[in-house]
Amino acid sequence: MLKDDAVYLGTSEKPEYLKLKYANRHGLITGATGTGKTVSLQIMAEGFSRAGVPVFCADVKGDLSGIAVSGTPKDFLVERADNIGFADYELSAFPTVFWDLFGKQGHPIRTTISDMGPLLFSRLLDLNATQEGVLNIAFKIADDEGLLLLDLKDLRSLLIEMSGRAKEISGIYGNVSTSSIGAIQRGLLVLEQQGGENFFGERALDIADLMKTDASGRGIISVLAADELMHSPRLYSTFLLWLLSELFEELPEVGNPDKPKLVFFFDEAHLLFDEAPKVLLQKVEQVVKLVRSKGVGVYFVTQNPVDIPDAVLAQLGNRVQHALRAYTPKEAKAVRVAAETFRPNPKFDTEEVIKQLGVGEALVSTLEKKGVPSIVGRTMMRPPSSRLGPITKKERKEIIANSPMASLYDEGIDRASAFEVLKKRAQRRVEEEERQREREDREREENGRMRRSRTGYDDDYRDDRPTKRSRSRKRRSSRRQSTSEAAMKTLARSVARNLGRSLVRGLLGSLKRGL
Ligand SMILES: Nc1ncnc2c1ncn2[C@@H]1O[C@H](COP(=O)(O)OP(=O)(O)OP(=O)(O)O)[C@@H](O)[C@H]1O
Ligand SMILES: [Mg+2]
Repeated sequence: MLKDDAVYLGTSEKPEYLKLKYANRHGLITGATGTGKTVSLQIMAEGFSRAGVPVFCADVKGDLSGIAVSGTPKDFLVERADNIGFADYELSAFPTVFWDLFGKQGHPIRTTISDMGPLLFSRLLDLNATQEGVLNIAFKIADDEGLLLLDLKDLRSLLIEMSGRAKEISGIYGNVSTSSIGAIQRGLLVLEQQGGENFFGERALDIADLMKTDASGRGIISVLAADELMHSPRLYSTFLLWLLSELFEELPEVGNPDKPKLVFFFDEAHLLFDEAPKVLLQKVEQVVKLVRSKGVGVYFVTQNPVDIPDAVLAQLGNRVQHALRAYTPKEAKAVRVAAETFRPNPKFDTEEVIKQLGVGEALVSTLEKKGVPSIVGRTMMRPPSSRLGPITKKERKEIIANSPMASLYDEGIDRASAFEVLKKRAQRRVEEEERQREREDREREENGRMRRSRTGYDDDYRDDRPTKRSRSRKRRSSRRQSTSEAAMKTLARSVARNLGRSLVRGLLGSLKRGL
């Protein structure tokens, strides 16, 4: 049953395969609760790994983690294999790396605020258009002044700086109201409460670490623990979107490879599209379309195909449709729509069968010769080789400890970025003021002495003269401004030198490197 150039999915009237050659043409796994979506994801991930294709997937309920250990020969699994004529069924573990945004159930996965960019970050904070405009300005100032926005405290200190310089900044970049800055700061607070501060910082994820194979040539399966993350749906969906855009920006064009460079499973995909602003939706469509030629296959997993916008749905060539219920008129309509997307099989009525499918049974259609969808087949899906259900805490701990990623990512780094630079800048300003005051005190003393020696007036008399004092204060403030301006220019120059390049933002606003 197993083939080198395809992933075996199960058997209808014939064995059903997902051809590696067309696996970057994306896919969709749908079905009601408990119908077999996660297990279908599991067997697909296994198949890709076996073929040397690395996989990234989110584990929403913890039950996908079993992929890291070998399954046990349970009767119902062996029976299923027998029923579908799957003679070469065997049990096996798969090379797995666990990741966790919160760093508990896997290696911490981080990115920097600069890397994420204003578009996705606005979505993360749920900002309105005006607030998003102000955030755009913050990113622009950071890019222009060479301030690195790595973690949340960097952005926070930049916002404080912006409040202080609101008038100057509004003159250059456009209106920056303190109420918008306040709204962004409140957004940051919410993000922090959701544990978002763990996600922003360094060491930032290098996507090359998601694209590895093990010594025997199997693709590494990266599993993101997402059970806790699901409590913050916006963080979850923005993170995955960021990852997708990162893959798109970083990977070279490969055209149509024999097999994908990476397969990306997007579970609970409806969260990506729920309430997403139109601009973002259009960009997602574009990224999904273009990432294909970088050799990345994206597979959405959700209950119902209607959860996915038509423009994205049209790009998902490989389909696994588990059972849908049709109790309400709305559900009945969704079943009809789902049925219509398949190339009909003369042997059955697609719409009827969707309602009758048993657990672990699905309608399958994959891309065949010339990328044409196959006739839909009523398919009994194959049983997984790895464990069905979660691994234990102890097993997970061992896998994490033995992973080569542990030494790379487990410790956080806090290098000098906007927070430190702005803190230093403020410190320098205070010190400069201090020095200026001392200089003026000295001058005053000096002048007093000279005058005294010329006129015989004493100090008290001079200090009581208001004109002189205000003149000195005026001079002081103008001098102070020019020194801090100079300090800023030097800073900007030195940072520009360090970067050696301007910062260029890609399609979803994340930073492009290597330019
Ligand atoms: N291919 C399969 N081989 C063997 N058993 C299966 C298969 N698919 C599903 N099952 C059985 O059905 C159960 C439910 O499947 P699964 O967890 O994949 O459903 P789901 O659609 O992901 O549900 P939910 O929406 O609740 O996450 C599994 O625990 C397993 O016992
Ligand atoms: Mg599931």
